[in-house]
Amino acid sequence: MTLTFPPGFLWGAASAAYQVEGAAQEDGRTPSIWDTFSHTPGKVLAGDTGDVAVDHYHRFREDVRLMAELNLAAYRFSVSWSRVQPTGRGPAVQRGLDFYRSLVDELLGAGIQPVLTLYHWDLPQELENAGGWPERETAERFAEYAGIVAGALGDRVEFWTTLNEPWCSAFLGYGSGVHAPGRTERLAPLRAAHHLNLAHGLGAQALRAALPARAQIAISINPAVVRPLSDKPEDLDASRRIDALANRVFTGPLLRGAYPTDLIKDTASITDWSFVRDGDLAVIKHPLDALGINYYTPSLVAAGTDNEGSPARHDGHGASAHSPWPGSEQVAFHQTPGERTEMGWTIDPTGLHDLLMRYTREAPGVPLYITENGAAFDDKPDAEGAVHDPRRIDYLRDHLAVAHQAIADGADLRGYFLWSLMDNFEWAYGYSKRFGAVYIDYQTQARVPKSSARWYAQVARTGELPA
Ligand code: NOJ
Repeated sequence: MTLTFPPGFLWGAASAAYQVEGAAQEDGRTPSIWDTFSHTPGKVLAGDTGDVAVDHYHRFREDVRLMAELNLAAYRFSVSWSRVQPTGRGPAVQRGLDFYRSLVDELLGAGIQPVLTLYHWDLPQELENAGGWPERETAERFAEYAGIVAGALGDRVEFWTTLNEPWCSAFLGYGSGVHAPGRTERLAPLRAAHHLNLAHGLGAQALRAALPARAQIAISINPAVVRPLSDKPEDLDASRRIDALANRVFTGPLLRGAYPTDLIKDTASITDWSFVRDGDLAVIKHPLDALGINYYTPSLVAAGTDNEGSPARHDGHGASAHSPWPGSEQVAFHQTPGERTEMGWTIDPTGLHDLLMRYTREAPGVPLYITENGAAFDDKPDAEGAVHDPRRIDYLRDHLAVAHQAIADGADLRGYFLWSLMDNFEWAYGYSKRFGAVYIDYQTQARVPKSSARWYAQVARTGELPA
Protein backbone atom coordinates (compact mmCIF):
# COMPACT_ATOMS: atom_id res chain seq x y z
CA MET A 1 0.00 0.00 0.00
CA THR A 2 1.26 3.46 -0.86
CA LEU A 3 1.61 5.66 2.22
CA THR A 4 0.77 9.33 1.76
CA PHE A 5 2.27 11.97 4.04
CA PRO A 6 0.33 15.08 5.03
CA PRO A 7 0.51 18.01 2.60
CA GLY A 8 3.35 20.36 3.50
CA PHE A 9 5.39 17.61 5.18
CA LEU A 10 8.94 18.92 4.95
CA TRP A 11 11.34 16.65 3.05
CA GLY A 12 14.96 17.47 3.65
CA ALA A 13 18.52 16.32 4.02
CA ALA A 14 21.08 17.31 6.63
CA SER A 15 24.78 18.04 7.00
CA ALA A 16 27.12 19.79 9.43
CA ALA A 17 29.83 22.39 8.90
CA TYR A 18 32.91 20.44 9.99
CA GLN A 19 31.77 17.33 8.16
CA VAL A 20 31.39 18.97 4.76
CA GLU A 21 32.89 22.43 4.43
CA GLY A 22 36.67 22.01 4.38
CA ALA A 23 38.41 25.38 3.79
CA ALA A 24 39.56 25.03 7.37
CA GLN A 25 41.95 27.94 7.21
CA GLU A 26 40.23 30.21 4.77
CA ASP A 27 38.68 33.64 5.16
CA GLY A 28 39.67 34.09 8.77
CA ARG A 29 38.43 30.78 10.16
CA THR A 30 40.42 29.58 13.18
CA PRO A 31 40.62 26.07 14.65
CA SER A 32 37.72 24.51 16.46
CA ILE A 33 38.09 21.61 18.88
CA TRP A 34 37.51 19.23 15.97
CA ASP A 35 40.47 20.67 14.03
CA THR A 36 42.67 20.16 17.05
CA PHE A 37 41.30 16.71 17.79
CA SER A 38 41.47 15.40 14.23
CA HIS A 39 45.05 16.64 13.93
CA THR A 40 46.00 14.76 17.10
CA PRO A 41 47.46 11.38 16.08
CA GLY A 42 45.31 8.41 17.02
CA LYS A 43 42.06 10.27 17.53
CA VAL A 44 40.48 9.80 14.11
CA LEU A 45 40.69 6.68 11.97
CA ALA A 46 43.43 6.87 9.33
CA GLY A 47 44.38 10.35 10.55
CA ASP A 48 41.53 11.87 8.54
CA THR A 49 40.69 15.53 9.16
CA GLY A 50 38.06 18.00 8.00
CA ASP A 51 40.66 20.23 6.31
CA VAL A 52 39.13 19.60 2.89
CA ALA A 53 36.13 17.39 3.69
CA VAL A 54 33.81 17.46 0.66
CA ASP A 55 34.88 21.00 -0.20
CA HIS A 56 31.34 22.27 0.23
CA TYR A 57 32.71 25.72 1.07
CA HIS A 58 33.74 26.08 -2.56
CA ARG A 59 31.19 23.79 -4.20
CA PHE A 60 28.02 24.87 -2.40
CA ARG A 61 26.42 26.14 -5.61
CA GLU A 62 26.84 22.75 -7.26
CA ASP A 63 25.57 21.11 -4.08
CA VAL A 64 22.44 23.26 -4.00
CA ARG A 65 21.79 22.32 -7.64
CA LEU A 66 22.03 18.69 -6.57
CA MET A 67 19.55 19.32 -3.74
CA ALA A 68 17.16 20.87 -6.23
CA GLU A 69 17.50 17.82 -8.49
CA LEU A 70 16.61 15.69 -5.49
CA ASN A 71 13.44 17.77 -4.97
CA LEU A 72 14.46 18.69 -1.43
CA ALA A 73 12.16 21.20 0.22
CA ALA A 74 14.65 21.91 3.01
CA TYR A 75 18.36 21.68 3.78
CA ARG A 76 19.63 21.43 7.34
CA PHE A 77 23.18 22.71 7.75
CA SER A 78 25.26 24.13 10.57
CA VAL A 79 27.30 27.27 10.97
CA SER A 80 30.95 26.95 11.96
CA TRP A 81 31.30 29.18 15.02
CA SER A 82 35.00 29.77 14.49
CA ARG A 83 34.33 30.84 10.90
CA VAL A 84 32.08 33.69 11.98
CA GLN A 85 33.59 34.53 15.39
CA PRO A 86 37.10 33.10 15.35
CA THR A 87 38.01 33.26 19.00
CA GLY A 88 34.48 32.68 20.23
CA ARG A 89 34.49 36.21 21.56
CA GLY A 90 34.21 39.68 20.16
CA PRO A 91 33.44 40.95 16.69
CA ALA A 92 32.29 38.77 13.83
CA VAL A 93 34.25 38.12 10.64
CA GLN A 94 32.22 39.40 7.74
CA ARG A 95 33.70 36.96 5.21
CA GLY A 96 32.53 34.07 7.37
CA LEU A 97 29.01 35.46 7.57
CA ASP A 98 29.07 36.15 3.82
CA PHE A 99 29.58 32.48 3.09
CA TYR A 100 26.41 31.54 4.94
CA ARG A 101 24.52 34.43 3.34
CA SER A 102 25.52 33.17 -0.10
CA LEU A 103 24.57 29.62 0.79
CA VAL A 104 21.19 30.72 2.13
CA ASP A 105 20.53 32.90 -0.91
CA GLU A 106 21.40 30.03 -3.20
CA LEU A 107 18.98 27.78 -1.30
CA LEU A 108 16.17 30.33 -1.33
CA GLY A 109 16.75 30.93 -5.03
CA ALA A 110 16.25 27.20 -5.61
CA GLY A 111 13.10 27.15 -3.48
CA ILE A 112 14.78 25.20 -0.67
CA GLN A 113 14.13 26.20 2.93
CA PRO A 114 17.30 26.69 4.99
CA VAL A 115 17.25 25.05 8.43
CA LEU A 116 20.15 26.43 10.38
CA THR A 117 21.91 24.75 13.31
CA LEU A 118 24.11 27.06 15.34
CA TYR A 119 26.23 24.42 17.02
CA HIS A 120 27.12 21.03 15.58
CA TRP A 121 30.08 20.18 17.86
CA ASP A 122 32.79 22.56 16.61
CA LEU A 123 33.60 24.80 19.57
CA PRO A 124 36.22 27.49 18.88
CA GLN A 125 39.46 26.12 20.31
CA GLU A 126 40.02 29.27 22.34
CA LEU A 127 36.85 28.63 24.29
CA GLU A 128 38.00 25.10 25.04
CA ASN A 129 41.33 26.54 26.18
CA ALA A 130 39.32 28.57 28.68
CA GLY A 131 37.64 25.39 29.95
CA GLY A 132 35.07 24.55 27.28
CA TRP A 133 31.51 23.41 27.94
CA PRO A 134 32.09 22.52 31.60
CA GLU A 135 32.47 26.28 32.16
CA ARG A 136 29.51 28.59 32.39
CA GLU A 137 31.16 31.25 30.29
CA THR A 138 30.87 29.05 27.20
CA ALA A 139 27.07 29.25 27.45
CA GLU A 140 27.25 33.03 27.68
CA ARG A 141 29.54 33.20 24.67
CA PHE A 142 27.15 30.97 22.74
CA ALA A 143 24.29 33.42 23.32
CA GLU A 144 26.43 36.23 21.93
CA TYR A 145 27.31 34.13 18.89
CA ALA A 146 23.62 33.24 18.39
CA GLY A 147 22.82 36.96 18.35
CA ILE A 148 25.51 37.62 15.74
CA VAL A 149 24.25 34.93 13.37
CA ALA A 150 20.63 35.97 13.90
CA GLY A 151 21.57 39.57 13.10
CA ALA A 152 23.23 38.50 9.86
CA LEU A 153 20.74 35.90 8.61
CA GLY A 154 17.52 36.58 10.48
CA ASP A 155 15.96 38.30 7.48
CA ARG A 156 16.22 35.13 5.40
CA VAL A 157 16.33 32.07 7.66
CA GLU A 158 13.12 31.12 9.45
CA PHE A 159 13.98 27.78 11.01
CA TRP A 160 16.70 27.86 13.69
CA THR A 161 18.06 25.18 15.94
CA THR A 162 20.45 25.95 18.73
CA LEU A 163 22.35 22.72 19.41
CA ASN A 164 22.75 19.41 17.66
CA GLU A 165 22.87 16.34 19.91
CA PRO A 166 24.18 17.96 23.09
CA TRP A 167 24.55 14.46 24.60
CA CYS A 168 27.47 13.81 22.25
CA SER A 169 29.11 17.15 23.04
CA ALA A 170 28.92 16.54 26.78
CA PHE A 171 29.38 12.81 27.26
CA LEU A 172 31.51 11.77 24.27
CA GLY A 173 33.53 15.00 24.37
CA TYR A 174 34.23 15.11 28.11
CA GLY A 175 33.45 11.56 29.35
CA SER A 176 34.52 8.78 27.00
CA GLY A 177 36.69 11.18 25.04
CA VAL A 178 35.92 9.66 21.63
CA HIS A 179 34.88 13.09 20.41
CA ALA A 180 36.63 16.43 20.63
CA PRO A 181 38.00 17.75 22.88
CA GLY A 182 38.74 14.17 24.02
CA ARG A 183 38.62 14.70 27.78
CA THR A 184 37.94 11.67 29.97
CA GLU A 185 36.49 13.01 33.20
CA ARG A 186 33.48 12.27 35.43
CA LEU A 187 32.30 15.67 36.62
CA ALA A 188 33.01 17.53 33.37
CA PRO A 189 30.27 15.81 31.30
CA LEU A 190 27.61 16.75 33.86
CA ARG A 191 28.77 20.33 34.04
CA ALA A 192 28.96 20.38 30.24
CA ALA A 193 25.40 19.04 29.95
CA HIS A 194 24.11 21.83 32.16
CA HIS A 195 26.02 24.51 30.32
CA LEU A 196 24.82 23.17 26.98
CA ASN A 197 21.27 23.33 28.31
CA LEU A 198 21.93 26.86 29.49
CA ALA A 199 23.48 27.74 26.12
CA HIS A 200 20.29 26.56 24.47
CA GLY A 201 18.16 28.72 26.80
CA LEU A 202 20.32 31.83 26.55
CA GLY A 203 20.76 31.26 22.82
CA ALA A 204 17.00 30.91 22.33
CA GLN A 205 16.49 34.20 24.20
CA ALA A 206 19.06 35.92 22.00
CA LEU A 207 17.44 34.50 18.86
CA ARG A 208 13.98 35.55 19.99
CA ALA A 209 15.21 39.07 20.60
CA ALA A 210 16.86 39.33 17.18
CA LEU A 211 14.49 37.41 14.91
CA PRO A 212 11.13 38.27 13.39
CA ALA A 213 8.14 36.74 15.16
CA ARG A 214 7.64 34.13 12.41
CA ALA A 215 11.00 32.48 13.16
CA GLN A 216 10.93 29.01 14.67
CA ILE A 217 13.41 28.14 17.41
CA ALA A 218 14.20 24.50 18.07
CA ILE A 219 16.85 22.09 19.33
CA SER A 220 17.91 18.70 17.94
CA ILE A 221 18.44 15.96 20.48
CA ASN A 222 19.42 12.31 20.04
CA PRO A 223 17.35 10.56 22.62
CA ALA A 224 18.48 7.02 23.37
CA VAL A 225 15.86 4.33 22.99
CA VAL A 226 16.86 2.40 26.08
CA ARG A 227 15.57 -1.14 26.41
CA PRO A 228 16.29 -3.35 29.41
CA LEU A 229 17.71 -6.80 28.65
CA SER A 230 15.22 -8.39 31.08
CA ASP A 231 12.56 -7.51 33.62
CA LYS A 232 14.97 -8.16 36.49
CA PRO A 233 14.98 -5.18 38.86
CA GLU A 234 18.69 -4.61 38.31
CA ASP A 235 18.28 -4.46 34.54
CA LEU A 236 15.31 -2.13 34.85
CA ASP A 237 17.40 0.06 37.11
CA ALA A 238 20.29 0.08 34.60
CA SER A 239 17.84 1.15 31.94
CA ARG A 240 16.41 3.91 34.12
CA ARG A 241 19.92 5.20 34.85
CA ILE A 242 20.90 5.38 31.19
CA ASP A 243 17.59 7.02 30.34
CA ALA A 244 18.35 9.70 32.94
CA LEU A 245 21.89 10.33 31.66
CA ALA A 246 21.11 10.09 27.97
CA ASN A 247 17.70 11.70 27.76
CA ARG A 248 16.17 13.28 30.83
CA VAL A 249 19.32 15.26 31.71
CA PHE A 250 18.31 17.35 28.69
CA THR A 251 14.56 16.97 28.39
CA GLY A 252 14.00 17.44 32.14
CA PRO A 253 15.16 21.06 32.11
CA LEU A 254 14.10 21.74 28.50
CA LEU A 255 10.53 20.51 28.80
CA ARG A 256 9.79 20.60 32.54
CA GLY A 257 12.30 23.08 33.97
CA ALA A 258 13.92 20.61 36.38
CA TYR A 259 16.73 18.05 36.56
CA PRO A 260 15.32 14.60 37.35
CA THR A 261 15.63 13.70 41.05
CA ASP A 262 16.85 10.17 40.24
CA LEU A 263 19.66 11.62 38.14
CA ILE A 264 20.72 13.87 41.00
CA LYS A 265 20.76 10.83 43.31
CA ASP A 266 22.65 8.63 40.85
CA THR A 267 25.38 11.26 40.51
CA ALA A 268 25.51 12.33 44.17
CA SER A 269 29.02 10.92 44.70
CA ILE A 270 30.29 13.13 41.86
CA THR A 271 28.46 16.42 42.31
CA ASP A 272 25.79 18.28 44.25
CA TRP A 273 24.86 20.12 41.03
CA SER A 274 25.63 23.46 42.66
CA PHE A 275 26.80 24.72 39.24
CA VAL A 276 23.08 25.08 38.46
CA ARG A 277 22.35 28.65 39.51
CA ASP A 278 19.09 30.28 40.52
CA GLY A 279 17.14 31.20 37.43
CA ASP A 280 18.98 28.83 35.06
CA LEU A 281 16.13 26.36 34.83
CA ALA A 282 13.61 29.03 33.88
CA VAL A 283 15.97 30.18 31.11
CA ILE A 284 16.42 26.64 29.80
CA LYS A 285 12.67 26.02 29.67
CA HIS A 286 12.34 28.62 26.91
CA PRO A 287 9.27 27.69 24.80
CA LEU A 288 10.22 25.48 21.86
CA ASP A 289 8.61 26.04 18.46
CA ALA A 290 9.73 22.58 17.41
CA LEU A 291 11.68 19.61 18.72
CA GLY A 292 14.20 17.89 16.48
CA ILE A 293 14.80 14.19 17.01
CA ASN A 294 17.78 12.32 15.61
CA TYR A 295 17.44 8.55 15.54
CA TYR A 296 19.63 5.70 14.34
CA THR A 297 19.40 2.62 16.57
CA PRO A 298 18.15 1.49 20.00
CA SER A 299 20.26 0.44 23.02
CA LEU A 300 19.87 -2.76 25.00
CA VAL A 301 21.17 -2.46 28.54
CA ALA A 302 21.64 -4.61 31.62
CA ALA A 303 23.28 -4.40 35.00
CA GLY A 304 26.93 -5.43 35.14
CA THR A 305 30.05 -4.55 33.33
CA ASP A 306 30.12 -4.46 29.61
CA ASN A 307 30.46 -7.96 28.26
CA GLU A 308 31.01 -6.84 24.71
CA GLY A 309 34.13 -4.76 25.02
CA SER A 310 34.33 -1.12 25.86
CA PRO A 311 32.22 0.32 28.67
CA ALA A 312 31.68 3.26 26.37
CA ARG A 313 29.84 1.06 23.93
CA HIS A 314 26.39 2.26 23.19
CA ASP A 315 26.34 4.00 19.87
CA GLY A 316 29.48 3.06 18.02
CA HIS A 317 30.86 6.58 17.88
CA GLY A 318 34.30 5.20 18.72
CA ALA A 319 35.98 3.01 21.32
CA SER A 320 37.27 4.17 24.67
CA ALA A 321 38.35 2.65 27.95
CA HIS A 322 36.43 5.43 29.67
CA SER A 323 32.73 5.33 30.32
CA PRO A 324 30.53 8.20 29.14
CA TRP A 325 28.08 7.40 31.98
CA PRO A 326 29.25 9.19 35.15
CA GLY A 327 27.94 7.46 38.27
CA SER A 328 26.39 4.66 36.21
CA GLU A 329 29.47 2.94 34.88
CA GLN A 330 28.13 -0.46 35.93
CA VAL A 331 25.84 -0.83 32.99
CA ALA A 332 26.41 -3.29 30.17
CA PHE A 333 25.42 -2.51 26.60
CA HIS A 334 24.34 -5.60 24.68
CA GLN A 335 24.14 -6.07 20.97
CA THR A 336 20.56 -5.72 19.83
CA PRO A 337 19.47 -8.54 17.51
CA GLY A 338 19.04 -8.04 13.79
CA GLU A 339 20.75 -6.76 10.71
CA ARG A 340 23.32 -3.99 11.20
CA THR A 341 24.66 -1.09 9.22
CA GLU A 342 28.33 -0.42 8.53
CA MET A 343 28.47 1.42 11.89
CA GLY A 344 27.50 -1.81 13.64
CA TRP A 345 24.17 -0.22 14.53
CA THR A 346 21.21 -2.56 14.47
CA ILE A 347 18.44 -1.56 12.08
CA ASP A 348 15.30 -1.23 14.17
CA PRO A 349 12.67 1.27 13.04
CA THR A 350 10.46 0.50 16.06
CA GLY A 351 12.82 2.70 18.09
CA LEU A 352 11.86 5.68 15.96
CA HIS A 353 8.18 5.06 16.58
CA ASP A 354 8.86 4.78 20.33
CA LEU A 355 10.63 8.14 20.33
CA LEU A 356 8.00 9.95 18.31
CA MET A 357 5.27 8.71 20.65
CA ARG A 358 7.33 9.47 23.74
CA TYR A 359 7.90 13.09 22.80
CA THR A 360 4.32 13.43 21.65
CA ARG A 361 3.46 12.70 25.29
CA GLU A 362 6.33 14.59 26.92
CA ALA A 363 6.27 17.68 24.72
CA PRO A 364 2.57 18.20 24.11
CA GLY A 365 1.82 20.91 21.58
CA VAL A 366 5.40 20.99 20.26
CA PRO A 367 5.70 20.00 16.57
CA LEU A 368 8.27 17.26 15.98
CA TYR A 369 10.81 16.91 13.19
CA ILE A 370 13.09 13.99 12.50
CA THR A 371 16.21 16.10 12.02
CA GLU A 372 18.42 13.07 11.30
CA ASN A 373 17.93 9.47 10.29
CA GLY A 374 19.97 7.36 7.92
CA ALA A 375 22.52 4.61 7.55
CA ALA A 376 26.14 3.97 6.58
CA PHE A 377 26.83 1.21 4.10
CA ASP A 378 29.92 0.20 2.19
CA ASP A 379 28.82 1.83 -1.05
CA LYS A 380 31.01 1.44 -4.14
CA PRO A 381 30.64 2.51 -7.75
CA ASP A 382 30.09 -0.32 -10.21
CA ALA A 383 31.91 -0.72 -13.53
CA GLU A 384 29.77 2.02 -15.10
CA GLY A 385 30.40 4.34 -12.18
CA ALA A 386 26.85 4.01 -10.78
CA VAL A 387 26.31 3.48 -7.07
CA HIS A 388 23.51 1.14 -6.08
CA ASP A 389 22.52 1.14 -2.43
CA PRO A 390 19.36 -0.94 -2.06
CA ARG A 391 19.95 -1.44 1.67
CA ARG A 392 19.79 2.32 2.26
CA ILE A 393 16.51 2.46 0.34
CA ASP A 394 15.15 -0.31 2.57
CA TYR A 395 16.37 1.52 5.68
CA LEU A 396 14.77 4.78 4.65
CA ARG A 397 11.53 3.15 3.56
CA ASP A 398 11.18 1.21 6.82
CA HIS A 399 11.86 4.28 8.98
CA LEU A 400 9.56 6.47 6.94
CA ALA A 401 6.83 3.85 7.25
CA VAL A 402 6.97 4.03 11.07
CA ALA A 403 7.11 7.83 10.89
CA HIS A 404 3.89 7.65 8.87
CA GLN A 405 2.43 5.28 11.45
CA ALA A 406 3.39 7.67 14.26
CA ILE A 407 1.47 10.45 12.53
CA ALA A 408 -1.54 8.14 12.30
CA ASP A 409 -1.06 7.43 16.03
CA GLY A 410 -1.21 11.12 16.89
CA ALA A 411 2.36 12.44 16.58
CA ASP A 412 2.54 15.99 15.23
CA LEU A 413 5.47 15.12 12.95
CA ARG A 414 6.13 17.83 10.40
CA GLY A 415 9.24 16.78 8.52
CA TYR A 416 12.10 14.36 7.88
CA PHE A 417 15.78 15.09 7.21
CA LEU A 418 17.85 12.32 5.76
CA TRP A 419 21.37 11.99 7.17
CA SER A 420 23.11 12.77 5.03
CA LEU A 421 22.92 14.58 1.73
CA MET A 422 26.43 13.45 0.77
CA ASP A 423 29.08 11.15 2.17
CA ASN A 424 31.22 13.16 4.59
CA PHE A 425 33.62 13.25 7.56
CA GLU A 426 32.08 10.83 10.06
CA TRP A 427 33.86 12.15 13.18
CA ALA A 428 36.14 9.56 14.82
CA TYR A 429 35.62 7.29 11.79
CA GLY A 430 36.86 9.86 9.30
CA TYR A 431 35.84 9.18 5.72
CA SER A 432 35.49 5.43 6.23
CA LYS A 433 31.73 5.52 6.80
CA ARG A 434 29.42 6.60 4.02
CA PHE A 435 26.02 7.96 5.09
CA GLY A 436 25.27 9.94 1.94
CA ALA A 437 22.46 9.67 -0.57
CA VAL A 438 25.12 11.14 -2.84
CA TYR A 439 28.44 9.31 -3.23
CA ILE A 440 31.66 11.31 -2.98
CA ASP A 441 34.79 10.29 -4.83
CA TYR A 442 37.31 11.74 -2.40
CA GLN A 443 40.03 11.76 -5.07
CA THR A 444 38.14 14.02 -7.43
CA GLN A 445 35.33 15.39 -5.22
CA ALA A 446 32.91 14.14 -7.87
CA ARG A 447 29.33 13.83 -6.61
CA VAL A 448 27.44 10.74 -7.77
CA PRO A 449 23.81 10.41 -6.66
CA LYS A 450 23.25 6.86 -5.41
CA SER A 451 20.08 4.96 -6.28
CA SER A 452 18.73 5.97 -2.84
CA ALA A 453 19.01 9.62 -3.91
CA ARG A 454 16.76 8.96 -6.88
CA TRP A 455 14.36 7.00 -4.71
CA TYR A 456 14.26 9.77 -2.09
CA ALA A 457 13.78 12.42 -4.78
CA GLN A 458 10.60 10.68 -5.83
CA VAL A 459 9.34 10.45 -2.24
CA ALA A 460 10.11 14.15 -1.73
CA ARG A 461 8.34 15.08 -4.97
CA THR A 462 5.19 13.04 -4.41
CA GLY A 463 4.96 12.98 -0.61
CA GLU A 464 4.28 9.29 -1.01
CA LEU A 465 6.09 6.21 0.10
CA PRO A 466 5.72 3.67 -2.72
CA ALA A 467 4.54 0.21 -1.66
C1 NOJ B 1 24.76 12.25 14.53
C2 NOJ B 1 25.38 13.55 14.16
O1 NOJ B 1 24.59 14.67 14.41
C3 NOJ B 1 26.02 13.56 12.80
O2 NOJ B 1 26.96 14.56 12.80
C4 NOJ B 1 26.60 12.19 12.50
O3 NOJ B 1 27.37 12.18 11.35
C5 NOJ B 1 25.48 11.21 12.39
N1 NOJ B 1 24.70 11.20 13.61
C6 NOJ B 1 25.90 9.77 12.10
O4 NOJ B 1 26.69 9.30 13.15
